[in-house]
Amino acid sequence: MKPYIYITRKLPEEAIAPIRQKYEVKMWDHDDVPVPKDILLAEIKQADALLTMVSDTIDEKVLNEANNLKIVANCAVGYDNIDLTAAAKNRVIICNTPDVLTDTTADLTFALLMAVSRRVVEAAEFIKKGQWKSWSPFLLAGQDIHHKTLGIVGMGKIGEAVAKRASGFEMNLLYHNRTRKPEIEQKLGTVYCSFEDLIKKADFVVCLAPLTDETQNMFNREVFQKMKHSAIFVNASRGPVVDEQALYEALVTGEIAGAGLDVFEKEPIDDGHPLLELSNVVALPHIGSASVETRTAMINLCIANIEAVLEGKLPLTMVKKNSKICTNSK
Ligand code: DGY
Repeated sequence: MKPYIYITRKLPEEAIAPIRQKYEVKMWDHDDVPVPKDILLAEIKQADALLTMVSDTIDEKVLNEANNLKIVANCAVGYDNIDLTAAAKNRVIICNTPDVLTDTTADLTFALLMAVSRRVVEAAEFIKKGQWKSWSPFLLAGQDIHHKTLGIVGMGKIGEAVAKRASGFEMNLLYHNRTRKPEIEQKLGTVYCSFEDLIKKADFVVCLAPLTDETQNMFNREVFQKMKHSAIFVNASRGPVVDEQALYEALVTGEIAGAGLDVFEKEPIDDGHPLLELSNVVALPHIGSASVETRTAMINLCIANIEAVLEGKLPLTMVKKNSKICTNSK
């Protein structure tokens, strides 16, 4: 009998075709709706391998249903949707997709920073609504990016790639990370500082820290109150690192000037989410790594990991048990 691979989202057939000869492969048949829990629970009973998305919760209850499962290949660098302890208990290898998405995610992070500071989305809506009546010196005037201070919280590979982009804008670069990165300091002139110093000094605070017990709600009311009134906050890591109510209040009261958000506490967000009503917020639906090239590379890496494990080899990008960090350092 061929080993059975279950894929929790509809992927392009050409990505899957090469493995169909060797393996039995089944996919959830929708690309816009996650697989329902009851189907996932039924599939995991039979599967030798799962290819999962960041929107699937692979918790203890799910993993305890597994009989033959050897690997969960998560199509994301982050893996906070997977219970690593339960995976280890069930002897299931967890893999993620670091490296292949670094530059793409850094591009999007920087795009968010630029969009908020130069009011790009507001300006695009303004012209489309026919509101442009005259050129005027301060019409939709935003804030400069060049020569300002960027504070990166979470100096993993994506953080480094954001710093590289920022150095082209001649920004001053501060960072905070659990461990210092002297090689990045040397290469890019980034300056390590405490979280407290970073939030007080930075004109742009960019969060790329993974979601862990320590980082949950790390951006709370007290933190926003300490930022500059002109500060712009960008989150491209995980929603729950931010207390959204506190962020909303900071934006409404002018404690900070704007926010660019690719991730949210609960995804997808509910209709009428208060943050969407603010003109100083640019919100995106978790598309950090969403270029066709990168998503294809992520899927291919998941498949390569699955093939390796099913052939009894070491996978290319395995998440270490008990690691609190994503392999992008995060
Ligand atoms: C990741 O890779 O962790 C992203 O958030 C999902 O694209």
